[in-house]
Amino acid sequence: MLVDGIGELVTNDPGLQPSVRDAAVAIDGDRIAWAGPRTWIPDGVAGPRIDVEGRAVLAGFVDAHTHLVFAGDRAAEFDARMRGEPYAAGGIRTTVAATRAASDAELTVSARRLRAEALRSGTTTMEVKSGYGLSVDDEPRLLRVAGEVGDEVTFLGAHVVPEEHADDPDGYVDLVCGPMLDACAPLSRWCDVFCERGAFDEGRSRRVLSAGRDAGLGLRVHANQLERGPGARLAAEMGAASADHLTHLTDEDREALAGAGVVATLLPAAELSTRSAWPDARALLDRGATVALATDCNPGTSFTTSMPLVIALAVSMMRMTPEEAVWSATAGGAAALRRDDVGRIVPGARADLIVLDAPSSVHLAYRPGVPLVGTVIRAGEVAVG
Ligand code: NIG
Ligand code: FE
Repeated sequence: MLVDGIGELVTNDPGLQPSVRDAAVAIDGDRIAWAGPRTWIPDGVAGPRIDVEGRAVLAGFVDAHTHLVFAGDRAAEFDARMRGEPYAAGGIRTTVAATRAASDAELTVSARRLRAEALRSGTTTMEVKSGYGLSVDDEPRLLRVAGEVGDEVTFLGAHVVPEEHADDPDGYVDLVCGPMLDACAPLSRWCDVFCERGAFDEGRSRRVLSAGRDAGLGLRVHANQLERGPGARLAAEMGAASADHLTHLTDEDREALAGAGVVATLLPAAELSTRSAWPDARALLDRGATVALATDCNPGTSFTTSMPLVIALAVSMMRMTPEEAVWSATAGGAAALRRDDVGRIVPGARADLIVLDAPSSVHLAYRPGVPLVGTVIRAGEVAVG
């Protein structure tokens, strides 16, 4: 297949210009075969030709942080917050109760619906966490659904201490690091922890991450969302792939993340929905950190699957350039997931492309809220459009 007539192509290929005018992309099966200026199209490209008539093409979005598997919603909590109530980590327990009461089939239907919604706005790779089961029986149930709908699966048994263990958080951490991890590690690639006041303190978070690492899982940390704290430095110490949220950082935190090669995954839709201060993307970039952008889709703090919204927020509110934000939503997400086969339009990568109904990728930030994602190609197949 040849995608031709591309007005602006954003490849994220360090060997090419950041964007290529009058470009084309050749796809062979589920892989990119070639990408570049259309005057250089190699001989022998076979199959159908799609003419996108001057539109912009970029890699499919890589959403490296979602909590897609849950039941119920928390519109009433959102409404109360918009009337002035503060956000606290405890709201998670409301969703835990609803999720435990839901069947596997109900959870699957809901997660699939959200996954389809994300695909329509251009997300071709998605990380999905557990974290609303919080028992030895429920967490594996959620991870099975996550594995069905998502591309990357993360065990988040340490999301919050559930009600029945409220008096004994250390006992709960024993459970997470013992039987729960035994049941969940075979279903996951990653282990995550919510390191925050009201969730898990530094010592308990370190225990969870160490146990996850010993079980062969890669590490991710919910860090510094609600206030300054130890999460970002812990992520650096433990060699996590990603530290996420990072709304309240010191310069030492930023240096620790950059120095340890921990990707800083920013989730501005959570700040939007909690009326919080914006994470300082510019300060992270200026210190040489790799920044990813993700949705944090969850029913409490960020009930959106829209990567275009996240890009618009990152540019307008977080001092990222449009070029940086598009990179962070594609190649940055891939880096946060330690993937080199997605997030870039380079030979050998999975053929995941978005065709925008716009002449340049700047329009993603320039036209906030407008559904600009027209065609979505995932693994060489037209999935939307
Ligand atoms: O990433 N921070 C922790 N977890 C979610 C919130 C989940 C919830 O409120 O249900 C987040 O924002
Ligand atoms: Fe989260």
